[in-house]
Amino acid sequence: MSIDMPLEEAPLSQLRQTPIDSVLHIIDEGLVHLPSYRELYYRWERQQWKAQDIDFSEDRKQWEAMPQDEREMRIYALSAFFQGEACVTDTLAPYVLAMPDEDMRIFLTTQLVDEARHTVFFERFFRDVMGVETGKIEESLAFARQYVNDDLKFILIDSLTEVAERIRQEPRNLAHLVEGVTLYHIIVEATMALAGQRNMLEIYRTNNLFPAFRGGFTAVARDESRHVVFGVKFLRDMIRRDNAHAHVIDAAIDTYAPIAIRGISPNPDMVPRILAMGGDPWVSPRYAMDSLAKKLRVIGLRISAKLPAIPPPPVSA
Ligand SMILES: [Fe+2]
Ligand SMILES: [Fe+2]
Repeated sequence: MSIDMPLEEAPLSQLRQTPIDSVLHIIDEGLVHLPSYRELYYRWERQQWKAQDIDFSEDRKQWEAMPQDEREMRIYALSAFFQGEACVTDTLAPYVLAMPDEDMRIFLTTQLVDEARHTVFFERFFRDVMGVETGKIEESLAFARQYVNDDLKFILIDSLTEVAERIRQEPRNLAHLVEGVTLYHIIVEATMALAGQRNMLEIYRTNNLFPAFRGGFTAVARDESRHVVFGVKFLRDMIRRDNAHAHVIDAAIDTYAPIAIRGISPNPDMVPRILAMGGDPWVSPRYAMDSLAKKLRVIGLRISAKLPAIPPPPVSA
């Protein structure tokens, strides 16, 4: 019998059985008592894991036995995450340089490494489980990109790149950095990624699907919990320093949130199929909007953006 480690230091073998909501709970606790930037850095030191340690052989067997139509259903979310992790890896460096305080910069350097690790983790899954052996990560990403919808491409590729470029050109202009953290940490991580991750991990866990992937992806979620708490704390601190930053955050939410919510909403073609399987096609966008509202409340703001209407959960017969 094995004794479970506290979630804080749980190894990958334990994380594959950990319900995702207990990981997401770390964020809720972090929002009640916002930790210092240094404490977030210390958490990173304690919460290490290795993408190279994962043995994907069981996942590969499951993928090989999976009917083609189910593979096609799974590939969209996996591709969005692979592309998303690569985009956040490629665009964070200017943020590190632009951070006004040293403890913020120290934390953000750890996030940069985390995002690189997440990208490698997905590249390994695509290669070792799905058999996407291109020899070059750029080519594996080009394969994944075919399955990413236009709204997600706009947020993950066009917008993240455009804001990062502005921060790079004017690192002393805090308005760019505030807009960037709103897009990166609040929209991409706290709204889109947490919702998608929760949905995927719940489906995989209840179906005992991809056990090795679950361990790694739950470790990714634990990393994301630090990133999201950092983003909330940073924006709250920036508003306290200068209330004008609140308008920058509001404007960024107005611009990006509706597109982000649309991007993680189900393709209309898939809705009848998900309903027929007894699922709720709108779990992710609903969770995403709640998550966004919760984070904004701690920052000291409310959602004023006009967001898409999401149907209530289907009543099962
Ligand atoms: Fe990540
Ligand atoms: Fe992240």
